[in-house]
Amino acid sequence: MLDVRAKMAKKSGKKGERFNPAIDSVSKAGLPDWLKEAVFYEIYPQSFKDTNGDGIGDIPGIIEKLDYIKELGCNALWLNPCFDSPFGDAGYDVADYYKVAPRYGTNEDLFRLFREAHKREMHVLLDLVPGHTAITHPWFQASMKAERNEFTDRYIWTDNIWTSPKDNACIRGISDRDGSAVTNFFSHQPALNYGYYEITESWQQPMDAPGPRATLEAMKDVMRFWLSGGCDGFRVDMAGSLVKGDPEGKGIQLLWEDVRAFLNKEFPHAAMISEWGEPDRSLQAGFHMDFLLHFGPSHYNDLFRCEEPYFSSRGKGDVKEFVARYLSNYEKTGGKGLICIPSGNHDMDRLARYLTEAESKLAMAFLYTMPGAPFLYYGDEIGMNYVEGLVSKEGGYNRTGSRTPMQWDDTANAGFSAGSPASLYLPIDPSATRPTVKNQAERADSLYHFVKKMIALRKEHPALGNTAGITFTEVSYPLCYERFCDEERLTVTIDPKALTVEIRDGEKTVLSECFR
Ligand code: NOJ
Ligand code: CA
Repeated sequence: MLDVRAKMAKKSGKKGERFNPAIDSVSKAGLPDWLKEAVFYEIYPQSFKDTNGDGIGDIPGIIEKLDYIKELGCNALWLNPCFDSPFGDAGYDVADYYKVAPRYGTNEDLFRLFREAHKREMHVLLDLVPGHTAITHPWFQASMKAERNEFTDRYIWTDNIWTSPKDNACIRGISDRDGSAVTNFFSHQPALNYGYYEITESWQQPMDAPGPRATLEAMKDVMRFWLSGGCDGFRVDMAGSLVKGDPEGKGIQLLWEDVRAFLNKEFPHAAMISEWGEPDRSLQAGFHMDFLLHFGPSHYNDLFRCEEPYFSSRGKGDVKEFVARYLSNYEKTGGKGLICIPSGNHDMDRLARYLTEAESKLAMAFLYTMPGAPFLYYGDEIGMNYVEGLVSKEGGYNRTGSRTPMQWDDTANAGFSAGSPASLYLPIDPSATRPTVKNQAERADSLYHFVKKMIALRKEHPALGNTAGITFTEVSYPLCYERFCDEERLTVTIDPKALTVEIRDGEKTVLSECFR
């Protein structure tokens, strides 16, 4: 049941033949070559490295730390939104898609980051937030006007203030325009208008109406601007929810197919990863990669973040649902792109809230031996803590504890900033035993060294690569799977109860670790 290879061989009628999406096909979108080797590092810019002492991380700080990231083994970055914003949702409320937020630097700094990354054979993804803007965005300001203008239909409005949209929340009572504006996430994030797939109200517009078409073209212009400036692609926020009235996802599929055609024509090497969490839909729609997330059907957090995570040495977790969903996605998407399993992100609790350092090593062993492009959230390589009890910052709420400044060393502010402690974006983890890059690098058996080792191992062994095949052979305690490509076939065994991980190539031991 669990052998994808056998299933695929059966489908293709070639009994017993190896199934390897890497070699058999490329994605519908044509996976850019660099993605086949990509290992990503996610940076929350405000908390990574501050170079001008204002207490907020900045783009020059990211440039300064590129060598650190490269040395760790990551060769690609994803930057959370760095555009001008009132920061009601940490930058996911964009006020100007064309301008770097002054607190992070200038557009020229960002262009320089692209150049510096490329010099080091690294790639950079920006965060595209196509679903909504800040209220302060000039498009929304114009859309709120009573008189008709170019942006009247850029957002979704009901036809009078007393009518609320049925399936979404809305903003009402702040405009001269008579109507309620649909929102997407927080109540200060009005939804851009990409149209409805099924129309049930007179104020809803079809996807091919002039307003929705203009919105999509405007978003392509944004992509064009940054891709022309040297950016290598985008992580797309809430990618699955742009089209409204679309319960089966048919409209959103059409929308991203349209974007795919544009990219194929103008920027075929741009990489696209969706925040969608349903690879069977997103990769079909033309994304190269999709994340498994803390929401959606993947059971991702059965492994890392729940009462009894699979990787806990208590051994009370359950990996079965996860594997079943993973395989179902894998089979549906085989050859069409990558399913990416992140170590965490700016929306989830830090791994260290649930797992000890030893258990985190097992989680990392898993993350770096699975197919798909790995994504490492900044600080997860040193086991940064979820900082408890913080007041919400910029719409972070419970997410705030995972967004604290990177801990570099034992100097003031853990080397994050030369500013005063009061000026820092968020306080540094107050724990006396907090990990830093320095203290982790000094300890030979640290998480940092293990992560580095695993990334290096992944690079050395083609069977561990992003596009090599997988077969699960045991799905309880321990978890066993085979990874394979033309050159080699490896067996991975991870046993959280025993705190061991082993990788074998036939009789030969490739890795054998016990963290007891
Ligand atoms: C998902 C982002 O990851 C999250 O941080 C943000 O708040 C919402 N989308 C809204 O844009
Ligand atoms: Ca700064």
